[in-house]
Amino acid sequence: MNTPRHLAIIMDGNGRWAQSRGMARVKGHERGAETVRTITTFCANHPHIERLTLYAFSTENWKRPKLEVEFLMKLLERWLKNELEVYLAHDVRFEAIGDLSRFSPQLQRTIREVEEATSPCKGLVQSLALNYGSRDEVVRALRRMVERHDPIDEAHLLQALDVAMEVDLLIRTGGDQRLSNFMLLQAAYAELFFTPTLWPDFSTDELQSILTSFETVERRFGGI
Ligand code: FPP
Repeated sequence: MNTPRHLAIIMDGNGRWAQSRGMARVKGHERGAETVRTITTFCANHPHIERLTLYAFSTENWKRPKLEVEFLMKLLERWLKNELEVYLAHDVRFEAIGDLSRFSPQLQRTIREVEEATSPCKGLVQSLALNYGSRDEVVRALRRMVERHDPIDEAHLLQALDVAMEVDLLIRTGGDQRLSNFMLLQAAYAELFFTPTLWPDFSTDELQSILTSFETVERRFGGI
């Protein structure tokens, strides 16, 4: 029976969720943030999931209208501050991945504070991908390897990435079937699940049914 240690999710469909209800797209992000909490808490109580990596803001998302980007930044700041209590209550260690240098000094400070405050937590690791793109991650990893005079091999490359752990199961909500520059190296042998459910509607029941299907998949890792 397969049990995922590392679950990664592309949270798509917030804008459509809101628009289909006659609301502004940003309202979908607000509801999406609630789903982040529900799914994180579920994973924190799951016996096998050790890491949950969530795609919250990609290196390409800066192309969105300025107001939406500003809203997302404010939402993130507010959300992280509120979420600290929830992380601590569920023993979740928060970690931001991606190139944080483009965020405001205030947001970077909040991110560091929540990382530090949750650093003693020993349960689930929630890695939130912020200004993240796999190609950018590889470039940053290669720079680090050159600086450290690391040998150029697969093991050292994986170690130099923002997330050194292979993804076992990758889910994308919102109906599109693509990876959008997310966890490209870590997901080399991941099982992929695509669901039409929009992220704000994604439930623990649906996640549980995906986990149940994953249990019976035969993972061969290139063997026979
Ligand atoms: C995709 O929906 C979602 C995003 C680009 C951002 C993800 C953000 C959240 C889940 C909420 C904020 C998160 C935290 C942790 C506070 P979309 O806007 O691309 O939806 P669409 O495909 O329907 O347009």
